[in-house]
Amino acid sequence: MREKIKDIFLQSGHQFVSGEDIGKQLNISRTAVWKHIEELKREGFHFEAIRRKGYRLVNDPDDISPERLKNQLLTKWLGKEILFIPEVESTQRVAHEIARNGAEHGTVVMTDEQTNGKGRLGRSWFSQKGKGIWMSMVIRPEFFFQQTPQITLVTSVILSRTLNELYPGYFMIKWPNDIFLNGRKISGILTEIHGEQDQIHYMIIGIGINTHKVEFPHDLQEKATSIEEEVGVKPKRMELIQNFFLEFERQYAQFVKEGFNSFYPYYNEHLFGKGRRITVNQFTKSVEGEILRINEEGYLILKQENGQEVNIISGDLLL
Ligand code: BTN
Repeated sequence: MREKIKDIFLQSGHQFVSGEDIGKQLNISRTAVWKHIEELKREGFHFEAIRRKGYRLVNDPDDISPERLKNQLLTKWLGKEILFIPEVESTQRVAHEIARNGAEHGTVVMTDEQTNGKGRLGRSWFSQKGKGIWMSMVIRPEFFFQQTPQITLVTSVILSRTLNELYPGYFMIKWPNDIFLNGRKISGILTEIHGEQDQIHYMIIGIGINTHKVEFPHDLQEKATSIEEEVGVKPKRMELIQNFFLEFERQYAQFVKEGFNSFYPYYNEHLFGKGRRITVNQFTKSVEGEILRINEEGYLILKQENGQEVNIISGDLLL
């Protein structure tokens, strides 16, 4: 019921709505409406109240409401099922669990706070309450096992595109799948596959985006940042999610049809660190070289000191 009242106010465009009207619409008493409004105030909503006119929502708290999100989404399959858990250890872990139990393609697990977020290569991911978008998408791929690393690259392209369309700034991609703005990390993507031999059962694409100013722990302060900090506006998380989902659905269809070919020009254009000498740590060795580009398959091409070019399939890029 509270969600419905929230929706009425959020859709009222900050106009006055009377308690009586809300009561009639939802078939509850005015006292019940008042009680819910008191509860909403405790959640951070501020109202102006005028006798005979009713209540007007003054602020627009940036909370994620799965109901509102579902109602506003223009997608066909992505986000049709959203599991929102206000606080969770890691959305990635929950997504694996529900995927094992048959969750449908496009189901998304979302949270406001992760207590033990997972990053790539066994690292942890810092996810402060209300300061970002932390979500994991269940994907049941229609493509071959060999193409799975590319879907991560494609996700980076989709996210960078969405961010570049919504906010001023030049959101770049640090190979393979970090989104960078002004030289620091804004967002990370973690793709995990569950399958056997040639058959993929499902894939979980986890995405973390630092939207609002985050109080990063000391060791991250130099490396990580947020959209708000860099761009100076507080992003509307729901708007960002909606745009990203729509873009993802469209581009995913294109990837299934055409492969990585049509994505790699954008990726190259937005490749972070071109011309820099870097090190890529791989399982057993590390490779040094200057970043040149990525190729049609998504491999990173480095120029080594002896002038030779080397293709890097996977690894951890240290700047
Ligand atoms: C990385 O850059 O190392 C990848 C970070 C991925 C973080 C996201 S936040 C939502 C999802 N749940 C997790 O525990 N991790 C991913």
